[in-house]
Amino acid sequence: MSHEGVEADYDLVVLGAGSGGYACALRAAQLGLTVALVERDKLGGTCLHVGCIPTKALLHAAEVADAARESETFGVRATLDGIDMDGVNAYRDGVVSKLFKGLTGLVRSRGITVVEGEGRVTGPRQVTVGGADGQVLTGRTLVLATGSRPRSIPGVEVDGSQVLTSDDALSLDRVPASVVVLGGGVIGCEFASVWRSFGAEVTIVEALDRLVPAEDPASSTALARAFRKRGITVRTGSPVQSAKTTDDGIAVTLEGGELVEAELLLVAVGREPVSDHLGLEEAGVTTDRGYVVVDERLRTGVEGVRAVGDLVPGLQLAHRGFAHGIFVAEDVAGLDPQPVDDVLVPKVTYSRPEVASVGLTEDAARAAHGDDAVQTLVYDLGGNGKSQILRTQGSVKLVRLVDGPVVGVHLVGERVGELVGEAQTIVGWEAHPDDVAPLVHAHPTQHEALGEAHLALAGKPLHAHS
Ligand code: NAI
Repeated sequence: MSHEGVEADYDLVVLGAGSGGYACALRAAQLGLTVALVERDKLGGTCLHVGCIPTKALLHAAEVADAARESETFGVRATLDGIDMDGVNAYRDGVVSKLFKGLTGLVRSRGITVVEGEGRVTGPRQVTVGGADGQVLTGRTLVLATGSRPRSIPGVEVDGSQVLTSDDALSLDRVPASVVVLGGGVIGCEFASVWRSFGAEVTIVEALDRLVPAEDPASSTALARAFRKRGITVRTGSPVQSAKTTDDGIAVTLEGGELVEAELLLVAVGREPVSDHLGLEEAGVTTDRGYVVVDERLRTGVEGVRAVGDLVPGLQLAHRGFAHGIFVAEDVAGLDPQPVDDVLVPKVTYSRPEVASVGLTEDAARAAHGDDAVQTLVYDLGGNGKSQILRTQGSVKLVRLVDGPVVGVHLVGERVGELVGEAQTIVGWEAHPDDVAPLVHAHPTQHEALGEAHLALAGKPLHAHS
């Protein structure tokens, strides 16, 4: 255990009880360490209260609305009378509160000391909670896990009623008639998808030349095509210059001067780390544009101080936060775990259709290994029985090294987020197409499309033209 000789109240003091912080606390307690977990708001953080869980509940309600609206496609006579946002929000809140209760009970059962209030770093591995005269907690290790918050941009002032962050969007009590979504990243695409399913006119304005720019360009193209088919206006290559509220809504000015108007504006231009006013500078913790600088074992430059989750540069995803938290707990306990590799962290955008991936994009693989060393294969979901039953379009794209392992899997289509588990096993275990090809996939599932793609790469395509 690190800093064994250090006098402290706890083995671990964790500042922030979101995905990274609470996972760290839970694992550390499991390993027999004493833990204080400091939280100013609610256990569970962004993911549980204003992120992953409530937005995915909205997206599920959106899927139900689409199923009703499109029921005749399947020969079922149902009509969509409308969206009762109070009902949707009650369903969503029910999901959140059940999980919150479960998490609270779990944390309690592991003997973790939860300290409610705003914490500030006031000394080496020391946190003071609740102002200067507050409770002082010292740890042999201090874990910074304060997460992230919506970023703003100059010229666009969020007012919480017409110009919204994703936090505000979640508490809307109505379906807007029209929305401009500023930013075509993950949050922008998910909210655009929900609002379109609920009947709003939606325009996405994205500065770069494609939606979900962190994904393989093929996925971006497929998503944009599907969104346009759904009636979502997609304006890529359109940086927003400014936005203002008007008598009946908002007006967004694009670079070049063009105006786009709507009832509401969602600002989804990324999330920034919450690291100001924490006392980090005084404690000697180095930050870079607000992110805490760490080595691959998530150690800051200050002895005994670690950082996890969205505070650390890289992917801002709840499951990466869990993995960071578990890693730090195990490392502190001396288990010598493997560091978390962002490349192997799966990503899912839960829009309709979904976009999911793990590993390298084609471009990244070519840049890392050279053009001649990379081979790709695209399997169209048109050949997959289950995809046809669901009436979804999309594809599986594999990126492999020639005579080597599969290094990237990129998926587009309804429900393909569920396939990323198999994809990450393939990429994480550095499987070759020949390793995957003999594995029998259940029929009819969309997993078969992954199997078929590997069969094709192994030189024995079944339901595909060779
Ligand atoms: P993002 O970084 O994914 O996308 C922001 C987009 O805004 C970028 O494409 C950027 O080019 C664009 N943009 C920035 N300035 C602009 C301007 N002036 N005009 C037009 N476009 C502009 O960030 P997002 O969507 O806000 O999400 C934040 C974080 O939360 C991400 O890291 C994301 O991965 C994570 N998240 C993950 C989810 C999931 O895993 N399903 C769901 C929601 C969020």
